[in-house]
Amino acid sequence: MDNRFARDLDLGFTASIAALDRIRSSYQTPEKSSIFKVNLSELDGRICPFLWDLGISIFHSEVFYTSPGRFTTVHVDGPDLDDHCKINWVYGAPGSRMVWYEEAPGSSGPRSMRTAIGSSYLAYDADTCNPIFHAEIGQPSLVNAGFPHNVHNDTNEQRWCVSLVLKYANTERHFVPWDHAVEIFAPFLKSG
Ligand SMILES: [Fe+2]
Repeated sequence: MDNRFARDLDLGFTASIAALDRIRSSYQTPEKSSIFKVNLSELDGRICPFLWDLGISIFHSEVFYTSPGRFTTVHVDGPDLDDHCKINWVYGAPGSRMVWYEEAPGSSGPRSMRTAIGSSYLAYDADTCNPIFHAEIGQPSLVNAGFPHNVHNDTNEQRWCVSLVLKYANTERHFVPWDHAVEIFAPFLKSG
């Protein structure tokens, strides 16, 4: 299986995680997975200019928390199966991973859903999906969020993920597909 799902990146700087520190320190229910909106102003100030130079801006940014021992719903971020990319930074829970799936023949297909912060996604029944790829996510990694996936946190640690949805600069919501993202980020891809 070709890896069209996750590649580690070296952006040339280590992003600071002030937004995550704020969210993590005030989170009261560590047994519950959750999702938080992040304002662009709360991100490391080097990220937006770095992306802008590549012709990319951020459609929206969020933090995902996955509690210890939790496997999240198999889903596609957004309303469409479209191979679009995000950049994710994962903190905590070493050994946890993202898993990608293909739908089993005869599957009844996904359901359109909305997260607690209003973003749309497609949800799949796990028993209608077959795993095809998995990867431990770095700091950061380019990930394919437009193909069915979930998070396996089969560790006893909290897993925190800062996640940026990429779009082409100067567009409203024209997301960046995997193949083009790999070209754009080629100088920053780690080997493997
Ligand atoms: Fe996702």
